[in-house]
Amino acid sequence: TAPILRHLDELRAMTAPWLRAGARIGVVPTMGALHDGHLSLVAAAKKTCDHVILTIFVNPKQFNNPEDLANYPRTETDDARKVARFDIDALWVPDGDQVYPDGFATTVSVSGLTDVMDGAHRPGHFDGVATVVTKLFTQTSATDAFFGEKDFQQLLVVRRLAADLDLGVTVHGCPTIRDIDGLALSSRNLLLSDRARTTAPRLHEEMEEIAAGLSRGEAFAPLREAATTRLLKAGFTKVDYLDLRAQSDLRSVSDTAQPARLFAAAHLAGVRLIDNIAV
Ligand code: PAJ
Repeated sequence: TAPILRHLDELRAMTAPWLRAGARIGVVPTMGALHDGHLSLVAAAKKTCDHVILTIFVNPKQFNNPEDLANYPRTETDDARKVARFDIDALWVPDGDQVYPDGFATTVSVSGLTDVMDGAHRPGHFDGVATVVTKLFTQTSATDAFFGEKDFQQLLVVRRLAADLDLGVTVHGCPTIRDIDGLALSSRNLLLSDRARTTAPRLHEEMEEIAAGLSRGEAFAPLREAATTRLLKAGFTKVDYLDLRAQSDLRSVSDTAQPARLFAAAHLAGVRLIDNIAV
């Protein structure tokens, strides 16, 4: 099984010969509580890279809500067991001070893409993501990194920062893995009660309903209105957004003349679920 590294000097000792050999180093950044979505990224990394590092770090800087940070599931022993069969090189599970040493004062902030959706609803969230991802890329000497389309806005933000800062990392986007009932896998699904878990797939169902309406040529606004009403009736307490946006730059669109995606975030029993689909 792969070693768990917690200090930067151990990590550097491991990557130094890989760098000298010009190897491709694939990195899969996660916050743990691993599920098949995360594991699909590991599988993609194994397929294209010479070496693979999985990172697990529950990044305090990207939580805009202290309760969310406190409740975030932490399952390191199970996580290590789940990746064992992939024969990766290391788990990078840095101690807090290895990422944010005393006096840490730098923020990476991507503008534009972060003005909307989760950027608007979770103040500071994407600064936290951009900052930690930049650190994880440089710490691991990544040449390739693997991200899920589940967090599509995050994927675009990471692509942007990697290009803007000349990090030399190719960012790969991988399809969303779903449960059989359509619910997108997420570490936060562990926080749903049995009852809420049966309601949760409604989010994806309503999104598919809107997509079907759009493909019949119906207008987006009334489709969105009807879906929102049904979600609230089903037990969701708040719909943060249900947006149709261009896949390339997330500008709001009203039809699917260009490649577009439908994006949603909604609250169910104290858990915030997000999802997106191509339309
Ligand atoms: P986390 O939520 O643990 O997700 C880690 C990676 O797994 C992300 O790239 C995410 O998009 C991907 N992922 C999650 N659920 C998925 C699913 N159902 N199908 C496919 N991929 C999925 O995203 C983060 O952590 C953090 O913001 C991080 C990038 C690690 C920075 O802290």
